[in-house]
Amino acid sequence: MDDVSALNEKLFGFAIDFNAAGNTPFVLRVADKLIGYVLYNQCGDFVDIYYMAIVPELHGLGHGKRLMEAFIQQMQLHGVNAFTLEVRADNKAAIKLYEQSGFKTVWLRKGYYSDDEDALLMKLAVMFD
Ligand SMILES: CC(C)(COP(=O)(O)OP(=O)(O)OC[C@H]1O[C@@H](n2cnc3c(N)ncnc32)[C@H](O)[C@@H]1OP(=O)(O)O)[C@@H](O)C(=O)NCCC(=O)NCCS
Repeated sequence: MDDVSALNEKLFGFAIDFNAAGNTPFVLRVADKLIGYVLYNQCGDFVDIYYMAIVPELHGLGHGKRLMEAFIQQMQLHGVNAFTLEVRADNKAAIKLYEQSGFKTVWLRKGYYSDDEDALLMKLAVMFD
């Protein structure tokens, strides 16, 4: 898992402590090579997604969409009915991917990030599908 933590540090500025409660990774690899991951916390039938990333050299190839689809399906098999996440309002790539995966924006958190950027709170409920 060192490569997952290193990618998180490169993109988001900190390594992941996998021993800490709630830091669960869902990892996509091909022939042992890291493609991407979702870091999340499951609480009963609800999942909060903290971070998601694809290795930078592989952006724009559809891996993000496939990873999110596989993640949602896997979580449903574990009884999850709802997902939430926060995303920077200027992160067009991530917002498009989340919308394509069925997430809807339910709230705008003004000045949520340390640089004063807004966050979109997005939600996906699969129990009503
Ligand atoms: C966000 C991220 C996970 C997307 O992964 P990806 O593998 O590049 O995305 P995909 O190739 O599956 O693309 C999904 C959709 O987003 C679109 N997209 C991808 N990059 C885009 C960009 N820079 N601007 C606008 N749309 C973009 C794609 O065109 C695709 O839509 P389409 O099917 O209509 O063509 C990836 O860019 C990433 O790791 N970013 C850095 C970390 C991050 O910002 N994570 C999210 C916040 S936690």
